[in-house]
Amino acid sequence: MTDTPAPHTGPELDAETLRGRALAALLTARERTALLTDSVDDHELTAQHSPLMSPLVWDLAHIGNQEELWLLRAVGGREAIRPEIDGLYDAFEHPRASRPSLPLLAPAEARTYAADVRGRALDILGGAPLHGGGPPLERAGFAFGMVAQHEQQHDETMLITHQLRSGPAVLSAPEPPEPERATLPAEALVPGGPFTMGTSTEPWALDNERPAHRRDVAAFHIDTAPVTCGAYRRFIEDGGYAEERWWAPEGWAMVREHGLTAPLFWHRDAGQWLRRRFGVTEPVPAEEPVLHVSWYEADAYARWAGRRLPTEPEWEKAARHDPASGRSLRYPWGDEDPTPERANLGQRHLRPAAAGAYPAGRSPAGAGQLIGDVWEWTSSDFLPYPGFVAFPYREYSEVFFGPGHKVLRGGSFAVDPVACRGTFRNWDLPVRRQIFSGFRTARDA
Ligand code: AVJ
Ligand code: FE
Repeated sequence: MTDTPAPHTGPELDAETLRGRALAALLTARERTALLTDSVDDHELTAQHSPLMSPLVWDLAHIGNQEELWLLRAVGGREAIRPEIDGLYDAFEHPRASRPSLPLLAPAEARTYAADVRGRALDILGGAPLHGGGPPLERAGFAFGMVAQHEQQHDETMLITHQLRSGPAVLSAPEPPEPERATLPAEALVPGGPFTMGTSTEPWALDNERPAHRRDVAAFHIDTAPVTCGAYRRFIEDGGYAEERWWAPEGWAMVREHGLTAPLFWHRDAGQWLRRRFGVTEPVPAEEPVLHVSWYEADAYARWAGRRLPTEPEWEKAARHDPASGRSLRYPWGDEDPTPERANLGQRHLRPAAAGAYPAGRSPAGAGQLIGDVWEWTSSDFLPYPGFVAFPYREYSEVFFGPGHKVLRGGSFAVDPVACRGTFRNWDLPVRRQIFSGFRTARDA
């Protein structure tokens, strides 16, 4: 029962392969940033669409500023291009709600700045050794992978801002594939025993995913697909939002204070549930995984259903543990990278696929859609793994550890593959519902 590195994830990757991957990841991220920021006018770029979000133009310059800090200054040893703007784009100096009133770079300036930084970053990438023995930040191209993931994470944040904006649709995408549910039972049994959680070999894994360690997890059953809108509607129609007994105390307080009756973006019209999605109002699709629910709503639904949320180790074991080899896989389907046949990732579609889609993406236990579609709330607080070391900065993960944040796993349709792995950890406050969050349920075996 050892965690042997997958063939293409070990330190043996040569510098040219790594350089090619880093370049592709940076270019893919920038294309998406351009799509998200070129599809609205300057007024919409500088407006605040919700107090929960930054103006899009802040994300754009912040993406450039982080790239400057890590690739130009830390890796390249260059001088600051515009040291006076660092404070404006430090997420810890200014809360999101205050960002519109800052003297931010105007849209044209922000674009020029991000493009200037990118040009210099590609020069540095061209000359970086990227070999195993270099400084930790450069090893296996980590800093470049980290910066590409950072940009993709802000691209998902910007897509959330697009979902929150009012007005007609500006984004479009093809529909996701149909489900193949004939062969899919409602739940999968994950056998008890230890498994390897986290990773010490994945070159671009972030600090909170490290190191690999053994966890003992008792046998449990887990849903083979995320909870659907149709199932969630039964909770609503059974008076779920009106009965205190299903809710954690803080969740019940939230329901009462805000008068919650349904997921964010849903409303009822003449007896029918409708939802707004990227500027289009449409009937709530029964077979699609529910989106835009808080941890409290996921927790209440699970209790109503006589079940519970999976713990974070349970989620990862259901996704990665291969009983045949005793190894933890990189992804539910194996060690190969995601493809469009395996998972709904990368904003290829503007919605999750129906429950039962992506049969090629199922885990050894038989659970599907663990990667992509919707972020899945787990019952667990965001905590460090044994042996955690903050790298390269405390403000990525460490300052968020503790009982205030709940872990989400698996990524959504809005996550790029570079920022999504079987080990990838996301977190948020349990009240948050503007994120692309859903869940699946579990029970003890
Ligand atoms: C990991 C998604 C919670 O967006 O707050 C972006 C990622 N960290 N810039 C966030 C992040 C710094 C982070 N999440
Ligand atoms: Fe950031």
